[in-house]
This record gives sequence, structure tokens and C-alpha cells, in this order.
Amino acid sequence: MISRRNFIKQASGAVIALSSLDPLLALAIDDESPQVPGKEGMILRSARFLDLEAPPEYLDSWITPLPHFFVRNHMHEPSTLDSETWKLSISGDVETPQTLSLADLAKLVPHTVVNTLECAGNGRSFQQPRVPGVQWQKGAVGTARFAGPRLRDVLSRAGVRATGKHVMFRGLDEVPGKVPPFVRSIPLEKALDADTLIATHMNDAVLTRHHGFPARALVPGWVGAASCKWLSEIKVLEKEFDGNFMKPGYRYPDHPLKPGDPLKVDDSHPLTALSVKSLIVSPGDDATLKSRSVHIHGAAWAGEADIVKVEVSADTGATWQAARLGHEKSKYAWRLWNYVWQAPRAGDYTIMSRATDSQGRAQPATAEWNPSGYLYNAVDQVRIHVEA
Ligand code: MTE
Repeated sequence: MISRRNFIKQASGAVIALSSLDPLLALAIDDESPQVPGKEGMILRSARFLDLEAPPEYLDSWITPLPHFFVRNHMHEPSTLDSETWKLSISGDVETPQTLSLADLAKLVPHTVVNTLECAGNGRSFQQPRVPGVQWQKGAVGTARFAGPRLRDVLSRAGVRATGKHVMFRGLDEVPGKVPPFVRSIPLEKALDADTLIATHMNDAVLTRHHGFPARALVPGWVGAASCKWLSEIKVLEKEFDGNFMKPGYRYPDHPLKPGDPLKVDDSHPLTALSVKSLIVSPGDDATLKSRSVHIHGAAWAGEADIVKVEVSADTGATWQAARLGHEKSKYAWRLWNYVWQAPRAGDYTIMSRATDSQGRAQPATAEWNPSGYLYNAVDQVRIHVEA
């Protein structure tokens, strides 16, 4: 595994080259770490299309502060976004197509959803054999308080026809060359869910550009890709959208594949809800601890399901002890957890965490392999050295 320090060193060259080409990214370089204003300390996974990962220690609060919230872009962020002239069209299989301004959205009843947003590719770098794609480790995930009108209120103003079955989102990304645009759809049932939003706010502030200003879809409990940023168009379709980011992108095999097997589009389905998963925030991997009393804490989430328990093992999975779950909870949000473990003696240990959810799913010892490394959710682990 490439260390963060080495990764950043390697990435710096790309950043310098890019920032001279693309002033929009406005990346500043210090001696070692490329910094994106407002996102200091994040791990740069891609500079061409900005992808930023949180180091695990940034994920230690129930609500992830915006500077620590990961960013995943498939193409360039829009260079001009003007809240005065921005418009959102609602068209397709509807009785009365609409064009809404930000002021129109602001007149609708706002709703707030605390949601854990995770990129479908989070953890991809741990897949064996390795798979192509952004090599996310643990931090393409975060929890935020999203707010804005319900998508269903906007759809009901337009009047969805009986033939309308899927709802397509298009963003204002700047699409380079022949790259297909980031357009995806969700089934009408999820679009009409009371918690699916056209979010205009994140953590009580107006959305920032990195996170989809002025409005993004928020499809709670589902892979991050469902929550289209910089919304410009919502279209009701009779069938699922089948562009690149639905087919062959963001699909999961219907039946387990052997490592190395290709994905057959006809034997696969679009990704929807997230898996059950936990993360050890502290101690960090390779930490050296001075006390035998080890405070272990982290977060656990399960998409549309609830976390029912998190267990911790300090003997490479032979025995498991229940961790204490934090009090803060909300339907689609992660639960923080903690456990104090007494190390029997000084030495090297592997600490593991395993979450179980209300659908009876538990994290596996080894994640199911798939060619894009989606929904990686093997038990988390860190290696520590206890000195005392
Ligand atoms: N929306 C648009 N328009 N373009 C994108 O590239 N990336 C998606 C989604 N929405 C994307 C998008 C993916 S893959 C993820 S994981 C989330 O946005 C990430 O949201 P964030 O950058 O606000 O964390």
C-alpha cells in the first residue's frame, strides 16, 4: 500500500502541471502537501478532476465538518455558477414541465436529512486482486446535515404521468472532450421518498461549489453517485436511463464473481443502497501507544438499514467484544462507537471492527470481489504497537 506521504509527493507533480493549466482549481502547493482552499489536510486522489479523501482521523465526529468532507468529481466542476441566473428544468413524462429558480426552490417547505454519503468505490484500494479506478482507502465517506425541498414536492407540481417510472438527473459538470456526461437515474419510488431532496444546504450552510452549489440531489442511504451535484435538469423517464454512468458504470454483479472475472452487463444491476460497514478512526494504522489501555473508536453505517451492533476483536478475529454505540442517531446516518481494550502485554496487535445491521447483514472477513471494487466492506483493521 502506498503511504500518504509518498502518494502526495507523487501527486504534487500532477497538481503543479494542472494548476498552471486550470486556474479554477486554484491549488496551492506547500513543501509537501498540495492544498485545496477550504479542504486543507485532505488526501488528493486526483487533481485533473478533483477527488479528495479524508484521512481516517478527520472522521471522528457524527457530523463531518465541510473542510473534512470528501469530494468526488468525474469531470471538471462548473466554472460559472450564478445563483441569480441558475435554473432547474423538470421535464419528460410530466403534465406541466417546470423551470424553477433558486428563489422558487426556497419557497418550498425545506426538509433536513442527516445522511452518510459514501462513494461506491470507497475502499477499492483494498480489493485483491487490484482493480482500476480511483484508489480510495477509507475516507471517501462523511456524514452531513443536508437540507432543501423534497424532490417529491417538485415532482408533484409538475404532475408525474402514469407512464413515468424513473427520474433522471443531469449536472452542470464541464465535460472534457468525448467523456460522456454525468447523467444517472433513480426509480420513481425512491424519488418520491419523503427523505429524497433537492438539497441546497449542507451542515446549515449554502452548498459549496465542491459539493454541488446551488442544488444537488440527495438520495439518502444510496451510493454517493446517486446524489447528482450542480443539478440543471430533472427528467421523468419511462425506463431506467442507460447512459455510461448507469451502464456499464456503477453496476454490481447479480451473482458473486471469481476474482478476475469480467462484469457482464446483462448479469448485473445498478448500484443502489450502501452495504453495512465500519471504520476504525482511532488508533490510527501503525500507531505506537504508550498505554495498555487502548481507546478504540470509529463509525458504522448501513445505507437504508440501521446499525444494531459493532464488535471489536484484538486477536485477529478469534473473539469479538461488543462496542458501545454513540447516542447520536438518524435514519441514514452513521453511528459512532467506542471500546476500551486492555492490552495484556506490550507488543504488536491487529485491532478489527465488524458492524451488523437491522437487515441481518454483517461485515465479511473478505469483501465480495467485483471488477470495479464497488461496495468494499470487509471488517476494518489497524495494526498497532503497544509499548507499555
Ligand atoms: N454529480 C455530478 N454532477 N458529477 C459528479 O461527478 N459525483 C458523484 C456524486 N454526484 C458526481 C456527482 C459521486 S461518484 C459521489 S461519491 C458524490 O457526488 C460525491 O459527493 P461530494 O463530492 O459532495 O462528496
